[in-house]
Amino acid sequence: MIVSRLESALFALKQLADQVSLRLPLENLREQIGRLSSTQPSWPPLRIGNRIATVPVVQGGMGVGISLSGLASAVANAGGVGVIAANAVGLIEKDYFKDGRAANLRALRREIREARKKSDGVIGVNIMVAVNDFHELLDVAIEERVDLVLMGAGLPVKNIPVQRMREAGVSPVPIVSSPRAVDLIFRMWKKLYNDVPDAVVCEGPKAGGHLGFSEEQIDDPEFALENLLPPIVEVLQPFEEELGRRIPVIAAGGIYDGGDVYEVLELGASGVQMGTRFVATHECDAAPEFKQAYLDCAEEQIGIIQSPVGMPGRAIRNEFIARTEEGWGPRFRCAWQCLASCKAEDARYCISLALNSARKGKLDRGFVFAGSNASRVAEIVPVSSLVNELAEGFVARARESVLLGVDAVAASVREARDSGVALVQKRYEELVARITDLRAALHEAVLGMDLR
Ligand SMILES: Cc1cc2nc3c(=O)[nH]c(=O)nc-3n(C[C@H](O)[C@H](O)[C@H](O)COP(=O)(O)O)c2cc1C
Repeated sequence: MIVSRLESALFALKQLADQVSLRLPLENLREQIGRLSSTQPSWPPLRIGNRIATVPVVQGGMGVGISLSGLASAVANAGGVGVIAANAVGLIEKDYFKDGRAANLRALRREIREARKKSDGVIGVNIMVAVNDFHELLDVAIEERVDLVLMGAGLPVKNIPVQRMREAGVSPVPIVSSPRAVDLIFRMWKKLYNDVPDAVVCEGPKAGGHLGFSEEQIDDPEFALENLLPPIVEVLQPFEEELGRRIPVIAAGGIYDGGDVYEVLELGASGVQMGTRFVATHECDAAPEFKQAYLDCAEEQIGIIQSPVGMPGRAIRNEFIARTEEGWGPRFRCAWQCLASCKAEDARYCISLALNSARKGKLDRGFVFAGSNASRVAEIVPVSSLVNELAEGFVARARESVLLGVDAVAASVREARDSGVALVQKRYEELVARITDLRAALHEAVLGMDLR
């Protein structure tokens, strides 16, 4: 009843506007109203390969034991995509210093199995291309038939066992920070494997952890997430047309609330990847002190470090970081050459050990990676509450944007009146009445908010 009133208000508006040859931005508005007018307005599901997550949120993989089966299964149970990070996961084992490679593989396999026991939702594994055991970790993920493998910190192009991934039903998903990287990966995959990845994570410079940008690029608006997304969506278009299906882009870096999710979806993303917010959950696998560092930090403490890996990283700056920058370095033993690019003898500290100390709550022996919004975190919550909050924020922003759409229509009418088109002036009162009617109908139908 109310939806039909909305439809008729829109129809009348369109007729009036047509009569006076006035172009009003009604199409977009009709679409937005359509999306909101279902009984349970909500966000769209995220499809990756053959799996569908009802919640379009991927929990970012967080290495060195921050996202293990506990967090990943909780996110999957809440309808999102839970991700176990493979990077240095063996540090949770007792024998990492005896055989780091074996410890990594054993721990990853066990965590995947644990997550599968706790959830039948969508579970992925994040593997850094730059680690020396990349292929062995990927083999474990394939053998355990995870739903997807996210591959970042390097370009996943050569020697990817695409055929085996397909046979095991594992979706490949690269993590990129530029349209150029997407173009390169997709063109090379077509050539080498006659296949392309099932989705792409586009990570902007506000993310926590290692960043795929130079220090100068980090604050340059040209590289901001909102400016990276549209060209990445564009680069994928010809591949989508050839395949006849969508290749979802998942936006990451600085996404904090449901309103942010709405904004990036409007820019063409199909979902988001979030790390920082998931650290501040009961289910996150890090020690309470790690999570508390988020609650305690001030905005100005979140900054960039030059990681021994050779990439900048975003972290909560502390005494440990300050001292290493002044030339101090803790004594450490390199367990094994875990990163291809790391020169342990030149490094001031071992990044894996520093992050592992922080994971265990020993913040004086390491530091905490965090996204640019970590200082906004006010409490540790269950994953389910966080997901509900995001969903509510998404719908609220969608509603707001319908209102903005109505206002844009009203502004167009006003502009036309002021420009002195005689016919429009005559019809103006009628148009205004229709717009008022539309706003009132919206209020009743979907907004449930004060429409002054
Ligand atoms: C503590 C922490 C550890 C992270 N570790 C990894 C990692 O091992 N591999 C990776 O690809 N991304 C890593 N990230 C990035 C996240 O997966 C995610 O893309 C990022 O946090 C999104 O930005 P946000 O924190 O603003 O939500 C890490 C992020 C954080 C906060």
